[in-house]
Amino acid sequence: MISEQAIKAHLKNENLNVKIFDVIDSTNSEAKRIALSHDSQDAFVPTLLIAKEQTLGRGRIGRRFVSNLGGIYMTLVYVTEKPLSDAVSITTAAAAIVAEAIESVVEAPMKIKWVNDIYNDHGKVAGILAETVPVGKRTAVIVGIGINTGASDFPEEIQGIAASIGELDGKEGLLIAKIADGLLSCAENPKDRSYMTVYRERFMLAGKTVDLMIGGERKGGGKVIGVDDDGGLLLLPDGRSDVTVVQSGEVSVRETKTR
Ligand code: BTN
Repeated sequence: MISEQAIKAHLKNENLNVKIFDVIDSTNSEAKRIALSHDSQDAFVPTLLIAKEQTLGRGRIGRRFVSNLGGIYMTLVYVTEKPLSDAVSITTAAAAIVAEAIESVVEAPMKIKWVNDIYNDHGKVAGILAETVPVGKRTAVIVGIGINTGASDFPEEIQGIAASIGELDGKEGLLIAKIADGLLSCAENPKDRSYMTVYRERFMLAGKTVDLMIGGERKGGGKVIGVDDDGGLLLLPDGRSDVTVVQSGEVSVRETKTR
């Protein structure tokens, strides 16, 4: 059961508006609307939006994110004057923060697939969509997180990919508060890269051979070496001996053919 009271009971950060919707199109879209309708001269209080269900949940690369009743769909939006390059690191940081928060609440290990998908032993349990919009001379940073909880009865389109972290038994507020506090602390300290240790410890692609997709097209592939301090993927491209840094895109682990 998600309630403002349950979230605030665990939240360390007091300067945060919390809004809960039974149903909404997308908490990221609502965050954009809030940011764009904000008078750019005024102070913007960071806002946490949570929906029990989304009708137009959005995923990365323009994909739909299935958001049926029963999951956690949350977006944190804050406005920063800091350079956009600082905000960019939130994408990687969010993966570390979400993975660590889920682990501590459900007491099961989580893994991270570059850039920021969270997996358990059964499949993808959470996805993150970070976006930015200009607000006057400042930037609104929008971090949306979808977490599969409860039963694993997923629609056909995501069966075989999606998995659930299971029942939270009243710990939804704790999980949401941990994630929101982690993101806010990261926003306040953009130069602090300590989350990279958490990220690397859970990084599930090291040593794997992958295909790289950019804009829906395959753009080569190679062996994954690791991630750099900015969250870039260190890749040894097929047939080459020098490592390149991939800043954006998506990878899929290449199946090794068995005879
Ligand atoms: C992905 O896995 O591709 C990213 C999924 C992000 C989903 C979350 S749910 C809350 C927020 N609102 C959205 O429409 N998307 C994000």
